[in-house]
Amino acid sequence: MIGVFDSGLGGLTVLAALTQRFPEVSFVYLGDHANVPYGNRPSEEIIELTRASVERLFGVGCKLVLLGCNTATAVAARRLQTSWLPETPWTALGHNVIGIVAPTVEAATQTPWAVTTPQYPQKFLTDRIAVFGTTRTIASNVYAEEIRKRCPKVTLVQQVCSELAGAIEHGAGKAELERLVETGIAGAMAQAGGEPPHRAILGCTHFPLVEHLFRRHLPQATRILSQPEVVADSLEDYLQRHPRYKGETVETPRRVLLTTGDPAEASARARVFAGEGLTFERLEV
Ligand code: DGL
Repeated sequence: MIGVFDSGLGGLTVLAALTQRFPEVSFVYLGDHANVPYGNRPSEEIIELTRASVERLFGVGCKLVLLGCNTATAVAARRLQTSWLPETPWTALGHNVIGIVAPTVEAATQTPWAVTTPQYPQKFLTDRIAVFGTTRTIASNVYAEEIRKRCPKVTLVQQVCSELAGAIEHGAGKAELERLVETGIAGAMAQAGGEPPHRAILGCTHFPLVEHLFRRHLPQATRILSQPEVVADSLEDYLQRHPRYKGETVETPRRVLLTTGDPAEASARARVFAGEGLTFERLEV
């Protein structure tokens, strides 16, 4: 059983790609709706909330947890992997935590994560790439650093959309969501001196829930990189190398959605963006 974690609904965009790609694998999703949004919180708080959620997913039987959240990945993944996990009994049991920034950088740079210096032909890539994310993801600078290491000639624009994930979670109307997306894109365009980006990374898993609004307001020539798809590609590769994390592959695998918040509210909100049939259960702690 694989766990997928997000601060709220955003990781459902990743989960949808994963359940489609791995129809025989069981997934448990955890949305920390009691604490969403994470994006404007101090880093230490994000690390602690993420750690607690990973532990809950381990506790319900997931051996692998994918952080389906850019903020949690950018701020907490490395700390959890290097300082927390090795000190816990979970390590001896073979549990692991992985994030979603690495596959996104790999796709954006067409360079494997393990390769951290510019290689031909990527070292000559001169694309303009716009990254949209939460306050904390952009402040971490992880996308800029990791992309520039591999593609130093890329022009990178990073745009904070500080209110968008929260607005999606808390039921803002279409006009408000569109205003927030439009403002973010205007900010990115201004930073790029009006030059349209070749590619846009929606570097917050909530944002694909309003991808149609990004599509509407981004220049037509800008391609949106689909983070859920690249994460599914990357997990496929990972599971080939670590098949034990697939767990038992069964005809009717488990699809459980857990929330730390109010299940009725989380389910109602999820249905607005991600369609019928999504029912959250309260995580019993
Ligand atoms: N979905 C999350 C991300 O990918 C977090 C949004 C939030 O909670 O602020 O960044």
